[in-house]
Amino acid sequence: MRSPSALVQLALATHVLATIPISGIERTTNLPYVPNKFIVEVDSAADIPGKRSNEAPHAHVLRSLTGRGVGFKVGHEYNEPGLFVGAAITLNDVKQLQNTPGVHAIRPVISFSAPTPVYSSSPSNPAVPLETQSTHVLTGVDKLHAQGILGAGVKIGILFLGVDYTHPALGGGFGPGYKISGGYDFVGDAYTGDNTPVPDDDPLDQCAGHGSHVAGIIGADPGNEFNISGVAYKASINAYRIFGCEGQTSDDLIVAALLRGYADKQDVLTLSLGGSYGWTEATGAVVASRIAGTGTVVTIAAGNDGAYGPFYTSSPGNGVDVISVASLDNPKILLENVTVHGVDHAPITYFSTWPLNSTAEWPIYATSNDTTVADDACETLPDSTPDLSKYVTIVRRGTCTFSQKISNIQHKGGAIILIYDNGRGLSQIDTGNDAKAVLIQAADGEWLVSQFLAGTGVTLDFPQHGASVEFPDPTGGLISSFSSYGPSNDMFFKPSIAAPGGNILSTYPVPLGSWAVMGGTSMATPFMAGSAALLLSYKGKSPAVGLSARSLFESTANTIASDHTDEGPLQTVAQQGAGLVDVYTALHTETLVSPTQLLLNDTAHYQGTQWVTIKNTGKTVKHYTLTHEPAGSALTLQPNTILPAEGPVPLSTDYATVTLSMTKLVLLPGLSWPVSVQITPPTTGDPTTFPVFSGFIKIQSETEITHVTYLGLKGSLKDVQVVDNTDVTFGFNLPAIINGAGDQQTDGVNYTFLGFNTPLSVYRMAFGTPLLRYDLVEPDITLVPSLNPRGLEERASVLDRRFFSFPHGKPNTFAQVAIVGSLLEVDYIPRSAVRPLLTDHYTVINFSKQFANGTSIPNGNYRLLLRALRVTGDIAQEEDFDSWLSPIIGVWDPTVSL
Ligand SMILES: *[C@@H]1O[C@H](CO)[C@@H](O)[C@H](O)[C@H]1NC(C)=O
Ligand SMILES: *[C@@H]1O[C@H](CO)[C@@H](O)[C@H](O)[C@H]1NC(C)=O
Ligand SMILES: *[C@@H]1O[C@H](CO)[C@@H](O)[C@H](O)[C@H]1NC(C)=O
Ligand SMILES: *[C@@H]1O[C@H](CO)[C@@H](O)[C@H](O)[C@H]1NC(C)=O
Ligand SMILES: *[C@@H]1O[C@H](CO)[C@@H](O)[C@H](O)[C@H]1NC(C)=O
Ligand SMILES: *[C@@H]1O[C@H](CO)[C@@H](O)[C@H](O)[C@H]1NC(C)=O
Ligand SMILES: *[C@@H]1O[C@H](CO)[C@@H](O)[C@H](O)[C@H]1NC(C)=O
Ligand SMILES: *[C@@H]1O[C@H](CO)[C@@H](O)[C@H](O)[C@H]1NC(C)=O
Repeated sequence: MRSPSALVQLALATHVLATIPISGIERTTNLPYVPNKFIVEVDSAADIPGKRSNEAPHAHVLRSLTGRGVGFKVGHEYNEPGLFVGAAITLNDVKQLQNTPGVHAIRPVISFSAPTPVYSSSPSNPAVPLETQSTHVLTGVDKLHAQGILGAGVKIGILFLGVDYTHPALGGGFGPGYKISGGYDFVGDAYTGDNTPVPDDDPLDQCAGHGSHVAGIIGADPGNEFNISGVAYKASINAYRIFGCEGQTSDDLIVAALLRGYADKQDVLTLSLGGSYGWTEATGAVVASRIAGTGTVVTIAAGNDGAYGPFYTSSPGNGVDVISVASLDNPKILLENVTVHGVDHAPITYFSTWPLNSTAEWPIYATSNDTTVADDACETLPDSTPDLSKYVTIVRRGTCTFSQKISNIQHKGGAIILIYDNGRGLSQIDTGNDAKAVLIQAADGEWLVSQFLAGTGVTLDFPQHGASVEFPDPTGGLISSFSSYGPSNDMFFKPSIAAPGGNILSTYPVPLGSWAVMGGTSMATPFMAGSAALLLSYKGKSPAVGLSARSLFESTANTIASDHTDEGPLQTVAQQGAGLVDVYTALHTETLVSPTQLLLNDTAHYQGTQWVTIKNTGKTVKHYTLTHEPAGSALTLQPNTILPAEGPVPLSTDYATVTLSMTKLVLLPGLSWPVSVQITPPTTGDPTTFPVFSGFIKIQSETEITHVTYLGLKGSLKDVQVVDNTDVTFGFNLPAIINGAGDQQTDGVNYTFLGFNTPLSVYRMAFGTPLLRYDLVEPDITLVPSLNPRGLEERASVLDRRFFSFPHGKPNTFAQVAIVGSLLEVDYIPRSAVRPLLTDHYTVINFSKQFANGTSIPNGNYRLLLRALRVTGDIAQEEDFDSWLSPIIGVWDPTVSL
């Protein structure tokens, strides 16, 4: 849910990545947490010693802090026994929470940026094309609508940016009786993530925007000028607003809104937000999963980070029981035509949903007469160029960026620009400003240049009405390239399923134009929420139906190819989940399979033999045939490196072998039968790529196809190095200490800890880690760190681990390594982004002259010991950690005498 330019960056990434100069690095700690803020979960009220009977369960914990004179501030309080009881607490020293009776877990607060749609556009003139509802046709929603299944009686809570309920297609009002029947604003317009929220009862949003887009995908009433309708437009919606107009939200707000939606008895909760995380353990993910476990359907975006490779799906979407939603490109896109005058020629289609705002008829000018030119208009245009404000300029794609060509043309007055394709494919382009520049197909551009050469006097105009065309998207029907790849770091099945999310027309706040086209898993997610509402309105609202939703949708989904050649393998389950949702079949299938996810884990924890029960709930006998259909094996690491593959993740056809206890099965009405499924990992392929293999067992009767989906990793996650010790990022090996002058520290250095004179630690995670620790150790310690070996190592002891964050174990050792004191300990951190586009490409820690518990470090010579536990590693086994020992760090505070 990040960089809006991700797709464009992909298209331009032809250069070799250069290393980053270390001198430019920010000296500020950038761990992805809200500083000093924690979510404390307490045990059930009954377990808390000394709790007074009529107070909130966490009150005891807070009283205990007060009793010890600890300064703290309480934010949101959570009191939903059985789901989550606790509070968000701000305090300087998290150690103070340690040993407080009744504390069950302490988690850092993760913040999330407002998700940026992958692209968006708004109409310059709203009286435009009619939507034929191709996404509804693709998923069988149109057939359900025809049967009168419209989600009536179902309540959907949208936890997001708020909604503009003044929009006529969203009901035009707020409160009981309206479509947007309730909700809450947890933050207020001015909230940015850093200031104080100003909550109120009104979740209106007329500034951020795509909350209304999401609401329209679920609930837009038909009969509007675009002929669109929501998937479940008779459902009622509660809007829970947890973002201001701009900025961030965080886990404490997500948890508050989740519990509020649960308390308000919403049948479906949907969240089009998240941040790449990889783990199932963030607080929002944990609470969302627990709510899903009660039978409330929870749908959450898988993330828009497909370009950043595998093991990178978002939290809270990673919550084990939630439906994490991938995005499929809409097979049809609405584009516009330009009309040709002067010669007899068909209209020319250009890539824009809305007509270019131009009412005149223009002659054309080509910046090159050569239709094979590679670098058209990449340089300043020649003096002979006329005033281009009087023309539509025709230019060929290639070599330099679109914005460069456009700016060269604009320097000659050019305002309307048609860029013809050079073979990369028709798509939305990023023009860098609001230039009127659009892409057309190669053949159309070549024809226009030939007319220019021949001087036929051809002219063009851009009709403002009636010139829209439904164009087949070349990537339509495939998973959107931006859709994030799973699985979770602990090998859960993420994303769960795919829904249309690329190129979606929906409602938008009235002051911002009322309608917009957007793409992102943010758009696929409400489609699934609406689908769940159709299921609940058809089968009846009950926890049992809610609990069956994910299985029904997964088992009836349609598998998705990795390309359109019909030769490539199916897309990996790590990106498509169980396939494209088929809502009609999910509601009507008579064959039930269980389980629908076969979680095979890595080969060290392999669950290769599984049982699948098939049940015929129909009224006639069914003859089933069972077959194996493999999906491409995702090569998750770049061969012979420790670095993750970038997206699109390469696929191989080294498949698993599947043995079924039976391949034919006859079931009388009402009967069920277990079938054993034995799955052997692929025996071929490069093991250094840690392939995630996946696929489907298809169960086909006379009339129906259902499937179960499997996913496993060939190799042991414990063999995957988690700390990056390469030099690819900065040109020297990481981890590293950067000294006060901004240089890599190679020898012993004394630090005063004043101003810039601090040891700055820089590391990158090549893979997520369940536990990262920095300890201060004696300078002459005998220890063999795995990443920069030196001496001998000791053995570790078993420790009782809780969720986060204060030093574990006895004060002077960790995992049996003698330490002077702990500086930092963090659980469940994601891997770093593979490319330097994101802020979390590397992590910087600006150490202060304090231990983690706040005590000052005495003057002296030390080393820093960095350790990160490998996934599935044992905290008691020193060899399960990647470790690194720094050069000598002298703590030399001149104001303290020895
Ligand atoms: C269209 O362009 C005209 C001038 O060329 C401008 O006045 C008008 O505001 C534009 N309309 C939109 C919707 O941008
Ligand atoms: C309008 O949408 C309905 C489905 O809601 C569809 O059946 C119809 O064909 C659409 N109309 C046009 C003109 O595309
Ligand atoms: C391109 O063709 C036009 C029209 O024939 C002509 O006026 C122009 O000089 C040509 N440009 C070049 C660089 O040859
Ligand atoms: C748009 O242009 C295409 C390609 O020439 C043509 O097939 C289609 O009929 C045109 N549609 C409209 C509405 O102009
Ligand atoms: C895979 O095995 C590890 C280690 O036992 C475990 O922590 C993890 O939950 C397992 N994953 C699944 C999906 O069962
Ligand atoms: C720091 O300065 C003290 C006092 O001069 C000296 O004993 C110590 O060795 C120095 N440490 C380093 C790492 O240079
Ligand atoms: C803080 O940690 C250091 C290093 O382990 C230890 O020496 C010190 O006693 C601790 N302080 C408190 C108040 O626990
Ligand atoms: C880095 O830490 C030092 C010492 O704690 C502090 O004085 C300085 O302000 C910090 N720098 C930044 C950019 O946070």
